Amino acid sequence: MAVIRNREGLVPADIATYIAERTAPPDNVLIALQARTAELGRVAGMQIGADQGALLALLAKLVGARRAIEIGTFTGYSALAVASALPADGKLICCDVSEEWTSVARRYWHVAGVAGRIELRLAPATDTLAALLTQGGAETFDFAFIDADKANYDAYYEACLKLLRRGGAIALDNTLWSGKVADPDAHDEDTDALRALNAKIRDDGRVDACLLTVGDGVMLVRKR
Ligand SMILES: C[S@@+](CC[C@H](N)C(=O)[O-])C[C@H]1O[C@@H](n2cnc3c(N)ncnc32)[C@H](O)[C@@H]1O
Repeated sequence: MAVIRNREGLVPADIATYIAERTAPPDNVLIALQARTAELGRVAGMQIGADQGALLALLAKLVGARRAIEIGTFTGYSALAVASALPADGKLICCDVSEEWTSVARRYWHVAGVAGRIELRLAPATDTLAALLTQGGAETFDFAFIDADKANYDAYYEACLKLLRRGGAIALDNTLWSGKVADPDAHDEDTDALRALNAKIRDDGRVDACLLTVGDGVMLVRKR
């Protein structure tokens, strides 16, 4: 059986193994992409785990996604998981700033046969999201995944809420931030930004939301 890697997460290792063994395994291209990304060394830890990939694909299917946005693409694992869950004429807009990392992504999207569903925009994501809104994109998207610089999460959340139709969903990664958000003594910029956004979403009358312990924490939001 192929080795399936879930990123080190918040649940104990034996339970993580149990979950991995009972989650639909990633396909061969996703497994090859994990291996290729591991060659990059320490930054490979930015890649989502297989369990998160399965969750994103399931969410995209649950909301019947045709149009999706991703903020933070890296070497393309989450994008590949989501694009594969879209219909053949579906569209995923990917936002990133790294030509180097996303060149790996492009190769694997091509191998998987989903490159035609993905439009990669290399620019600060706030600019790309603003352009989508200016170009008439409001309320035309079904699903969004946020997984980039934490200080801008609130701005990404607000833009995605505008871009999503009612009933659409947003998944925000790293919202438990290795548990630091629950540590009252932790006050670095990223922790404070994530903690404030988690609290804001809990009280946000525009959405239904639930904070999941998958991976490093996934805040799941549905636009009312
Ligand atoms: C955690 S990684 C994304 C991991 C990816 N979702 C995956 O499944 O492998 C974060 C990515 O956000 C990108 N990023 C950081 N700041 C950004 C910004 N201001 N605009 C767009 N992308 C940004 C980085 O280049 C990096 O590729």
